[in-house]
Amino acid sequence: MKVAAFVGSPKPDGVTDAVVRQVLSGVEDKGADSAVFHIGLLHIMGCHACMKCRNTGVCVLDDDMKPLFEELRKADCIILGTPIYFYYMTAQMKAFTDRLFSLIGEGFKSKLGPKRSVFVVTQGADDPELFSSQIESMRKAWGMAGLDIIETVQACAFESAEEVMEDEELMRKAFLAGQDLCR
Ligand SMILES: Cc1cc2nc3c(=O)[nH]c(=O)nc-3n(C[C@H](O)[C@H](O)[C@H](O)COP(=O)(O)O)c2cc1C
Repeated sequence: MKVAAFVGSPKPDGVTDAVVRQVLSGVEDKGADSAVFHIGLLHIMGCHACMKCRNTGVCVLDDDMKPLFEELRKADCIILGTPIYFYYMTAQMKAFTDRLFSLIGEGFKSKLGPKRSVFVVTQGADDPELFSSQIESMRKAWGMAGLDIIETVQACAFESAEEVMEDEELMRKAFLAGQDLCR
C-alpha cells in the first residue's frame, strides 16, 4: 500500500508537518510506503479555467503540480495537511485543490477516487470549534475530487513542531489515524 501526504504550509518544519509525520508513523507501522510533498514550497498555479481538461482529463498547466497528479493516482490513500490562514486553507493548498478540477468528470464524479484520506488541520486559535464550518467545507471540496476524509486531526494553538510533539494525546490520535488509514 502507498500513502502520499501533501502539506500546504510554507513551513516544511512547522506544526502541520510534525502532525502529518506522526500520521505517517502510523502508516509506516502498518508496513505501507509513504511519501511527503511540501506543496507550500512548490510552484503551483491556480486553475486558469481554460476547460481543456473537460475533454482531455489532463491539466495543460506546466508547473510543479504535473508530477503530483501522478502521485495522487499512484497512492492508495492520501493525507492532506494545512494550517488555517485567514479562516481557510493556505493559498498554496487552495491552488493545489483548484487544480484537482481536471480529476472531476461528468456529473461531478471523481476520476480519482474515492481514496481514503486523513486531514490534518492546524490553527493558532485555541477553540477547536472556531473553524468547524471551514473544515466541513474543505472536506466537501476534497470529497468532490475523490479524496474521502475519514478522519480529521486538529492541532490548536501550538507554537512549534517541538511543542506539538510533546502533546502525547494528540500524537497518539495522529498515529492511530495513520494506522486506521491502512486498514
Ligand atoms: C498568514 C497567516 C494567517 C493565519 N490565519 C489564522 C487564522 O485565521 N486563524 C488561526 O487560528 N490561525 C491563523 N494562523 C496561525 C496558523 O494557522 C498556525 O500558527 C498554524 O499552526 C501554523 O502551522 P505551520 O507551523 O505548519 O505553518 C495564521 C498564520 C499565518 C502566517
